[in-house]
Amino acid sequence: MTDAPHSPAGDVAGDVAPEAWSGVHRGPLRAGEWVRLVDGKGRKHNFELVPGKRFFSNKGHLEHDDLIGREEGFAVTSSVGGEYLVFRPLLSEFVVSMPRGAAVVYPKDSAQIVAMADIFPGAHVVEAGVGSGALTCSLLRAVGPYGRVSSFERRKEFADVARRNVTQFFGGDHPAWNLTLGDLAEALPASGERCDRIILDMLAPWDCLDAAADALLPGGIVCAYVATTTQLSKFVEAVRVHGGFTEPAPWESLVRDWHVEGLAVRPGHKMIGHTAFLVTARRMAPGERAPLKKRRPAPGAYGPDYTGPRPPGVPETPADD
Ligand SMILES: C[S@@+](CC[C@H](N)C(=O)[O-])C[C@H]1O[C@@H](n2cnc3c(N)ncnc32)[C@H](O)[C@@H]1O
Repeated sequence: MTDAPHSPAGDVAGDVAPEAWSGVHRGPLRAGEWVRLVDGKGRKHNFELVPGKRFFSNKGHLEHDDLIGREEGFAVTSSVGGEYLVFRPLLSEFVVSMPRGAAVVYPKDSAQIVAMADIFPGAHVVEAGVGSGALTCSLLRAVGPYGRVSSFERRKEFADVARRNVTQFFGGDHPAWNLTLGDLAEALPASGERCDRIILDMLAPWDCLDAAADALLPGGIVCAYVATTTQLSKFVEAVRVHGGFTEPAPWESLVRDWHVEGLAVRPGHKMIGHTAFLVTARRMAPGERAPLKKRRPAPGAYGPDYTGPRPPGVPETPADD
């Protein structure tokens, strides 16, 4: 028999290594940690465990001391018989229940961003705006303590909310994170930072495209998250007009729950129909341009009613098809 290989993550029976900055703990629930209680109707309550404190709901109360010291994943009964499941919140649960300044990137989209914008351990990622800090948590998880996330936010009240949320999730000041108050279009060039990935979640990402292009290393990825089709169109065309990127790839992701019960196996009735669209494009090396698209635009695509940016090679008045 050989010895078990040494794992830098440490002993799985103990806590997660703090230097991993995962925001996750193992083992018995401790004072100061956050827990999530879910009742029989699916109502959720998140709170910090404080010795001597009581949690109150419409189902009576529970003593925090009765939760502290237990392994998560248990059911408790309140003073008037309400039953609750007790777990530590997952990142995907934390971001949809934490205090919000601005609208958050939903977990299904954060997952797409991490995968499709190829956020890797050790990466230097720039994001704007930070909003409530939801995407920031996923980016920090993905780059890890050896990477860097530089977040830019132009509104102080949102930056403050984000700082509280991110610090709460990771249980301290994540060493890979820095948050700058300011408009990305000015603050990023002023910082002189170069980066591997830039994520733009804002109303007018095209205004930040020049700053993003200057900061991105060759082969880097710009990724925009926009809520409406008009924003999607304007951003995609602006990337084409810029010329320093590959053909942008726009998409959206739809996630549908399923109801599975005996013979009743069908899609769920409730679904988040729309959150936002995503676009990615890769930065070309300095002075290099991606070959123009070979395909002709669809008839009327850039006709007289089109008023947005006009990509190179597209005539003012398209030929009559
Ligand atoms: C939808 S929120 C971002 C949400 C965030 N990604 C999250 O997951 O919590 C958009 C934010 O972008 C900020 N913003 C808009 N334009 C900006 C710019 N040019 N530079 C920096 N922040 C900007 C807004 O103030 C707002 O807080």
